[in-house]
Amino acid sequence: MRQNGNGQGSSPRIGIIQTFEPGERETYGLGLALEKMGASWVAIEARFLKVSVDKLGEPVVLIENDPELDVRCVDDLRLDSIVWRVSEADYYNYANVFDTLGEKYPMVNDWRCTWICSDKWRTSAKLAAWGVPVVPTVLLTPGMAVPEFPGFKTVVKPSVGASGRGVRLELAGSVPAINAPHVAQPLVPGPSCDHIRVIVCGEEPVTSIHRIPGEEHRGSEIEVNNVAAGGTPARAPMAPVRQIAVDVAHHLGGDVIGIDLVPWNGGFAVLEVNSSPGFNLIDETLGINCFSHAAQQVLRRMGALGPAAHGSPVDRRSRRLSTT
Ligand SMILES: Nc1ncnc2c1ncn2[C@@H]1O[C@H](COP(=O)(O)OP(=O)(O)O)[C@@H](O)[C@H]1O
Ligand SMILES: [Mg+2]
Repeated sequence: MRQNGNGQGSSPRIGIIQTFEPGERETYGLGLALEKMGASWVAIEARFLKVSVDKLGEPVVLIENDPELDVRCVDDLRLDSIVWRVSEADYYNYANVFDTLGEKYPMVNDWRCTWICSDKWRTSAKLAAWGVPVVPTVLLTPGMAVPEFPGFKTVVKPSVGASGRGVRLELAGSVPAINAPHVAQPLVPGPSCDHIRVIVCGEEPVTSIHRIPGEEHRGSEIEVNNVAAGGTPARAPMAPVRQIAVDVAHHLGGDVIGIDLVPWNGGFAVLEVNSSPGFNLIDETLGINCFSHAAQQVLRRMGALGPAAHGSPVDRRSRRLSTT
């Protein structure tokens, strides 16, 4: 847990729930931007949040420090809002924590946006229903044969996943050994450095980037280009993807999202959407301050949602928060 400032006075106090490593710029970059705008913040690792039901039947959230870590003591977790910065791959590990927190705190990136983005199938199905162009996508359940997309090889990847993990080619007609839902898509032809990621804060597209795949993936049949897999951001045009990005953000209702788009059918189509996009390298290598745009949106959303229902003071040992 990491805390800035003194958390005193009337400045809004924001909890950033995260699965990034403690002290990572992904968290404190946003925290510092919030601080510049007069808010105070505390970063809480998702694994320290314990949700339980007490004797009186009240749902409670316990926040416990890990004594092994150099964490600063937070005496009062009266938060005005929560920013959820938990990887999509961890969605189901923390979904119930999210729900419980959501009963008490205004959440940035609301439940519905996070729920949709957590699953690639759900994202494609919803976006297609809203008329947004998406890459053809088939839900692949265990035991099912890989579909054929005539003229294309078939990409298979976990429906709940992130960072390029588990993205691979599979032969049409084969039955992959999977024990969780996957999605199948045509392999989009061309180099993956032509793909575009747009960061949208509120309904404002903030930046558009290419990701140049790292050496390990460059030139391979499927070029995974995630920054977590060694990809490097580079500036990309916004014009060809701006309207799609605005439409996606409008329909999802998210606050801070990252939209992956690929060239398709003479234009662009959505591959997937992230509700906790990383900004780190974009900020450092391109000098685009996504953290500051995100912080502005956090404060705008807090203003729109109104105050949190503060609970009782926090127990010294476990920092107990009543949710009633
Ligand atoms: N259908 C596809 N065609 C071409 N490349 C793909 C396709 N699906 C995924 N990729 C590559 O793999 C990367 C990761 O896939 P993505 O669907 O964004 O999942 P995640 O980022 O959640 O792991 C993409 O950024 C892209 O480089
Ligand atoms: Mg992606």
